Amino acid sequence: MRIEGPVKGVKGRIRVPSDKSISHRAVILGSVAKGKTVVKRWLRSLDTLATLEIFKKLGTNVKERGDELLIEGRDFSFEEPQNVLDAKNSGTTARITLGVLATQPFFSVITGDESLRRRPMGRVAKPLKAMGAFIDGREEGEKLPLAVRGGRLKGMEFFSEKASAQVKSALLLAGLRAEGITKVTEPLKSRDHTERMLRAFGVKVQEEGLTVSVEGGQTLEGTEVLCPGDPSSASFFVALCLLSGGEVLIEEVLVNPTRDGFFRKVREMGADIRYENLREVSGEPVADLYVRYSGRLRGVEVNPEEVPSMIDEIPILAVLMALSEGTSVVRGAEELRVKESDRIRAVVENLRSMGARIEETEDGFVVEGVENLKGSHIKTYSDHRIAMAFTVAGLVAVGETTIDDPDCVSVSYPSFFEDIRRLIS
Ligand code: S3P
Repeated sequence: MRIEGPVKGVKGRIRVPSDKSISHRAVILGSVAKGKTVVKRWLRSLDTLATLEIFKKLGTNVKERGDELLIEGRDFSFEEPQNVLDAKNSGTTARITLGVLATQPFFSVITGDESLRRRPMGRVAKPLKAMGAFIDGREEGEKLPLAVRGGRLKGMEFFSEKASAQVKSALLLAGLRAEGITKVTEPLKSRDHTERMLRAFGVKVQEEGLTVSVEGGQTLEGTEVLCPGDPSSASFFVALCLLSGGEVLIEEVLVNPTRDGFFRKVREMGADIRYENLREVSGEPVADLYVRYSGRLRGVEVNPEEVPSMIDEIPILAVLMALSEGTSVVRGAEELRVKESDRIRAVVENLRSMGARIEETEDGFVVEGVENLKGSHIKTYSDHRIAMAFTVAGLVAVGETTIDDPDCVSVSYPSFFEDIRRLIS
């Protein structure tokens, strides 16, 4: 795909597709619950469809009407799948589903695409094994495909080395079918959608500092879940506006404090960005996001404790940093190396090819802002967030940019290019 830059700003309003993390969880929690769950404004993307397909193969009955799902929950009693389950490109699908499979006495195997088969799974398989599940796979259970035979779990206290919402969610779900109490402590708070949604399904979840716990034997009662707009998808329009000019209103965006670190960081860089009409939707804070071009932004630092709240937005933040005044530094983001691609490497390599002054470090990068980027050939490594971040970079760069695999945006945002076209025309 070819992009000709620079564009002359954005104008208008948009409601970006619904939040991916919440859409995955709505299917999973609706399936393990008792009774019917209605999911409204569900995100239909390749990642969330992978979750839906897996839960259908486990016997969940789901009626789909446009972007609404009607799920008949199985109250944690699934059917042995006939074949290997495929999480495709989705780490969230693989890791959280493992937590559910660990509660089931049958045999199942879960795998994923080439990228997902390279990603670490031991962080969830190990504690699930310690709870009593049988799990084995490549590299001593570190890599997919993983085979699982679960059931008869015992609650445990687990100290997670990483701030990982996927690990925490898998263990909390397994804990609901374990004997006694399951406690998960993380070094920094990761996104808390599972905890919030479990409460909406009537489950008692205790939180004390960085420790979350559930008591086994609780039943989830089917409910209604309304999915808000995805802040990760919104971040690309925020960046495009701040780099190219104009103003944009992004409606109904999730602004959960475990997710809105990017918006807070761009405000620190000098951006005019405001939350309007702040309200609560299905237990989550939501706002309309008003963004206005604010001149050249200032370089900033991102410290390790800030990383979890903006982890998926760091590629687009790097593009903003590359064009800001002064030096920017990102530290403590080594987790980016094991996402859909090695995002530190992909960001550094592509930004450099566009003329940015950026140095890679083990856990992040250091950028000296330049005045302009120039068009280049972008290698996405089939990573949706790299493709979208560098589409924005290409739109503000001088000259022609080509993107090697634009279709990978469908993992989280199938209508991305149409929406971009509408806002820049
Ligand atoms: C997600 C959690 C994050 C994030 C991913 C989605 C989730 O990963 O990067 O895109 O929905 O739970 P961690 O499990 O490492 O927090």
